[in-house]
Amino acid sequence: MSLAEFLEAAARLEQEGLATIAGAESPDTLTAARNALVGRKSGRLTALMASLPSLDPTDRRDAGAAVNRIKAALEAALGSASARFSTGARGGPDLDPTMPARRAWRGGAHPVTIVMREIEEIFRELGFTIALGPEAETPWYNFTALNFPADHPAMDMHDTLYLGEGALLRTHTSPVQIRTLQRYKPPIRVLVPGNVYRRDFFDASHAPMFAQVEGLAIDEGVSFVDLKATLTHFAQRFFGRTRTRFRPSYFPFTEPSAEMDVECQLCNGTGCAGCKQTGWMEILGSGMVHPSVLESTGVDSERYSGWAFGMGPGRIAMLRYGIPDIRLLYDTDMRFLEQLSR
Ligand code: DAH
Repeated sequence: MSLAEFLEAAARLEQEGLATIAGAESPDTLTAARNALVGRKSGRLTALMASLPSLDPTDRRDAGAAVNRIKAALEAALGSASARFSTGARGGPDLDPTMPARRAWRGGAHPVTIVMREIEEIFRELGFTIALGPEAETPWYNFTALNFPADHPAMDMHDTLYLGEGALLRTHTSPVQIRTLQRYKPPIRVLVPGNVYRRDFFDASHAPMFAQVEGLAIDEGVSFVDLKATLTHFAQRFFGRTRTRFRPSYFPFTEPSAEMDVECQLCNGTGCAGCKQTGWMEILGSGMVHPSVLESTGVDSERYSGWAFGMGPGRIAMLRYGIPDIRLLYDTDMRFLEQLSR
């Protein structure tokens, strides 16, 4: 082969090679082009280099320099072509980088889920761990062990969904207090998120199934001060700076019992329709765990004491976001859900 023939073949290879690379429309065609051009086994450039020894020795220097230059040009073109695919950009003359990006719809968390996660996070920071229990329970866990008297109206068929003899859908997350006390030795600090069921029809403020979050803290020397301080801290962390108050209440499984109110988040405590002009909103029930609850699980109530609370994240979401009707939380209306989803 003469030097002229060699250089002509080299120039043709460069021209055609660059055109092939520019025309590659997918990573696969680009890989095929790479193999066909510079592949070590069957690439055209490799074949051209193999013909170098057939040249006159005085011409080999120029021929080799041409091969090196072409090789660099092809490699550079291959490199930028594959970058084009790896960034996902289409490239080409019709790409307008000043166009706004298309808005991708990503879905998001339900308002109740957002509230649950925040509650869990705040109590996690305080050393609480998550405990779960079954949604199908026995009357003993749901009522008896929690010190409900045998004829308590909550046990009525009108309020509780029974699954048959000896089984019901839990009406609150409190039975997980019992399961936790049976399973672990104090000190205990657990948070129990979960769904509960009541024999209610849907209306603006009732649903037959809703979420609750239960808390339980048991140790030696635990007092009402711990309850009040912890729940006040929770309200401040969750709602931001807000006033709180405790009102005496009654639950069979706590003594004394208290409900906690926070300043109405809709009117900042000045009074509005949302808080029935009181300026306050109830967010949870709580109390010192009744000694008979501890004893029903074999925990020594002389040595240990503790406190518990229960709250409804759906209700809290409604208070926080000013949602007027609980049914909005159960519909799948994206116009509603998208307002809060992140
Ligand atoms: N279980 C109660 C309910 O469903 C809520 C509750 C009140 C839970 C006081 C507690 C508590 O742990 O101490 O209405």
